[in-house]
Order: sequence, then C-alpha cells, then structure tokens
Amino acid sequence: MKKKNQFSRRKLLIMASSAMAVNPLIAVAGQNNTNIHVVKNPQCGCCNAWIKILTDQDFNVTTENSSGSLLTEFKIESGIPKDMMSCHTAKVGGYFIEGHVPVSDIRRVIAERPDALGLAVPAMPYGSPGMGPEEERDAYDVFIVRTDGSTEVFQHYPQGGIQV
Ligand code: CU
Ligand code: CU
Repeated sequence: MKKKNQFSRRKLLIMASSAMAVNPLIAVAGQNNTNIHVVKNPQCGCCNAWIKILTDQDFNVTTENSSGSLLTEFKIESGIPKDMMSCHTAKVGGYFIEGHVPVSDIRRVIAERPDALGLAVPAMPYGSPGMGPEEERDAYDVFIVRTDGSTEVFQHYPQGGIQV
C-alpha cells in the first residue's frame, strides 16, 4: 500500500515536472497558495506549530479563535464525529481538516475530490505534524469521513523510525 503510494507520487512528480517544462505558471498554481481557514483555541501552541507547517508549504492560512463548547459546536456542525475530534478544525476546498493532518493528505484530498466531508487525525498523536519529531512518532491514521458520517483509513503512518 505504502509502496504503491510512493510509486504514484513519484509518477506524479515526473508528470508535474514535465508539465512545468511546458507551462511553469500552471504547474505552480496547482501546488501553491491554497486558501485554508483554521478555527482554533488561541491558547493552543500545537495548533500554531501545525499552521507554521502549512504556511511553510505555501498555504494561505487565515485563522479564527474559538474555544470550549463553541468550538465543539462548530465541529459538530461541520460533520465531525465525536471520536474523530482533535484540537483545531480547518476548512479547505469544501472539506474539513480536523487535527494534525499532514500536508500531503490535504493536497491529496483537494486533488482527488472524493465524495466526503473531510479528513481527521483524532486526538493529537505524538509525532504527527506540529506534535513533535516525525522519527519518534507513534503510529497513527488519517481518517476520511464520508457524507454519511462513516469513517475509513485514508492514510496510515507507521511508528517513526520503521522503514516500510
Ligand atoms: Cu493540537
Ligand atoms: Cu491544533
């Protein structure tokens, strides 16, 4: 599964670089300056660490402060199941992004446009983006939340330091 993904990613990179040779503007527009809106608790340091990763990857990030039951209500209204909830809730391209979801998965969901409400990394796994060093991370999954509220694994991240 992992191998297949890496292969297709490599294939995409090759496709992207040949597209870039033809028209650099189109290739750049596909990757950069994606608008993402993040609703978060102003006290949350890990939210800011995750946002920093997004801005470093050329996302246009806007933020909004919320907390407590107001923030939980926003999550429920967004269609995020209780067991999928984390700290911040972002919106990008019509999808919600709940918690410390890696940039590659955000890019994939907005490129593939699956019939779904969004992606979630429940709780805050150690070593997920913005939550500590990747090479020491705990294994975790990015889930896709379907329109009926059901969930399935979108991408698995093995424990850090394990070569797959
Ligand atoms: Cu967090
Ligand atoms: Cu957060």
